[in-house]
Amino acid sequence: MNETDTVYEMRDLADTAVWGRRLGCRLRTGSVVALIGPLGSGKTTLVKSIAAGAGVADPREVNSPTFVLVNEYEARRSGEVLHLYHIDAYRLRGHDDLEALGFEEMCERGAVLIEWADRVLELLPQDRLTMRLDPIGEYQRRFVCQAGGARADVLLNGLASDCLRPAEEDGTAR
Ligand SMILES: Nc1ncnc2c1ncn2[C@@H]1O[C@H](COP(=O)(O)OP(=O)(O)OP(=O)(O)O)[C@@H](O)[C@H]1O
Ligand SMILES: [Mg+2]
Repeated sequence: MNETDTVYEMRDLADTAVWGRRLGCRLRTGSVVALIGPLGSGKTTLVKSIAAGAGVADPREVNSPTFVLVNEYEARRSGEVLHLYHIDAYRLRGHDDLEALGFEEMCERGAVLIEWADRVLELLPQDRLTMRLDPIGEYQRRFVCQAGGARADVLLNGLASDCLRPAEEDGTAR
């Protein structure tokens, strides 16, 4: 951990659901979120909540892209469509594989969420939100976040204080 890290403590799944929704509604085209954490730390679980917050109508369609390597979802909010790309880098062997997936185009066309990002970290844009998910109990998780530039800063700035209401109002926040 270093001094530019922002740390969030999740007490349970519900905290992750709320936090993920808050982040999701801040995503924009060009946002890149790199998720790093051991097996079962909650990367896919968090992506589901992020997708819900971004406006994916049915987050049940959000599943681990372990075999297909990348899933694409459409997030709709107030008439706008945001493309959401969900990559699993576990089986990627570096630059050529990431390029073959169309990574650059994804970053131009939408927001990109990457599980097992540590496998391709040096290939990702500097301006990304890098998140380490530390399991510290059966249900507790520590999210250690680092913003690598202005776009990533926007994702974290004010994260604790806004965006929650729309999700709460439709009763699906928890
Ligand atoms: N606070 C929490 N946040 C996220 N997941 C939690 C939390 N508490 C418990 N869990 C559980 O931990 C598990 C996380 O599984 P998940 O598939 O999301 O992990 P993953 O990091 O994507 O794993 P993999 O490395 O296999 O892709 C789920 O069963 C989830 O219900
Ligand atoms: Mg996963």
